[in-house]
Amino acid sequence: MKIAMFGASGFVGSNLAHHLSRDTAHEVRLFDLEERKLALRFENAAYSFEPLSIADGNPRVDEIVAESDLVVDLAAHVHPAMFLNRPLDVVQLNLFDCLTVVRACVRHRKRLLHFSTSEVYGKAHGSAEPFREDHTDLVLGPVGKTRWIYSCAKQLLDRMIHAHGEEHGLDYTLVRPFNFVGPLMDKFSRDWSRDDNPRVFANFMSSLVYDRPLQLVDGGRSRRCFTYIDDAVSALRAIIDAPEAMNRQVVNIGNPANETSIRDLAELMVRHYRRLCPGAPVPAIVDVPSATFYGEGYEDCDRRLPDISKLRAIGWSPRFGLDETIHRSMAYFVHNHARLVASLGE
Ligand code: UGA
Repeated sequence: MKIAMFGASGFVGSNLAHHLSRDTAHEVRLFDLEERKLALRFENAAYSFEPLSIADGNPRVDEIVAESDLVVDLAAHVHPAMFLNRPLDVVQLNLFDCLTVVRACVRHRKRLLHFSTSEVYGKAHGSAEPFREDHTDLVLGPVGKTRWIYSCAKQLLDRMIHAHGEEHGLDYTLVRPFNFVGPLMDKFSRDWSRDDNPRVFANFMSSLVYDRPLQLVDGGRSRRCFTYIDDAVSALRAIIDAPEAMNRQVVNIGNPANETSIRDLAELMVRHYRRLCPGAPVPAIVDVPSATFYGEGYEDCDRRLPDISKLRAIGWSPRFGLDETIHRSMAYFVHNHARLVASLGE
């Protein structure tokens, strides 16, 4: 298969591309604004990369799609800090620019694997019911709570892709990632006041390495299921290899057994850090109001638990428990600190 991957040099893209490229049955072409994470992931191995922006209806997107059998679109802004600080850029890329890729797939009748987000489910209001792709309501806060602009943009694109399936016969799978962590996730951040502040794992990792407090937003009560990237990649592989079963499906990818509160995550990461870096200073865990950390437009998804029966039905289940997921992810960051900062900056 000829596979074209847009947004290939992010966290998920670089790990998925590396996995797919080892399979000689596939020809994988990688596209993104730059290739730093790909270079880190592939080390000295060869890969096919072309610098490309999908913005402004770039006609090159159409040519690439026409030449491919499967199109994977990972292009996205995914950091909540950015949803609050650059909401219009978030909508531009996550909805309008990605629509260029969708329309090219419709035009050339190509299969699309599109990355939606678990964030579209919105608030769980404390419910312990797992999110089910075809049943759960998508519940967002008011317009003034800008945090939801990303969820809303992604949801509209999900609905448009579904409609293209119904009206134009588009073959697609929409995947919803649930808090993947692992090598090359986001990056270290020395200064946490920036608008592209990384997600919680990378934020806590940065706090540990730079000896500054781990900040628990609103007491760290929210809950997430952290999923190791190798499990995520094997799920994506199972989806790619099951085109009929997964056609016109929305599919959660996550590990429901790995649910934790953010406070417990902070404590777990401190314990692992003591083991990984004996003798290193260990910063405190402190509480911070969300309005201070993110701004007034923030509201949280209180709980995000995936139902993964669709993946279980095609033979996939996650392998990495929470402890191993966090340990492996942290070990990579600790052992590659200098290399990551030299390549990706802070
Ligand atoms: C983000 C994106 O919005 C989703 O699109 C994406 O699917 C998801 O990450 C993901 O990784 O799959 P979220 O889980 O809210 O969603 O993002 P994080 O920044 O990782 O925050 C998780 C929780 O930790 C939130 O409750 C947040 O308030 C809290 N947090 C974050 C802290 O307590 N301290 C921090 O330093 C950062």
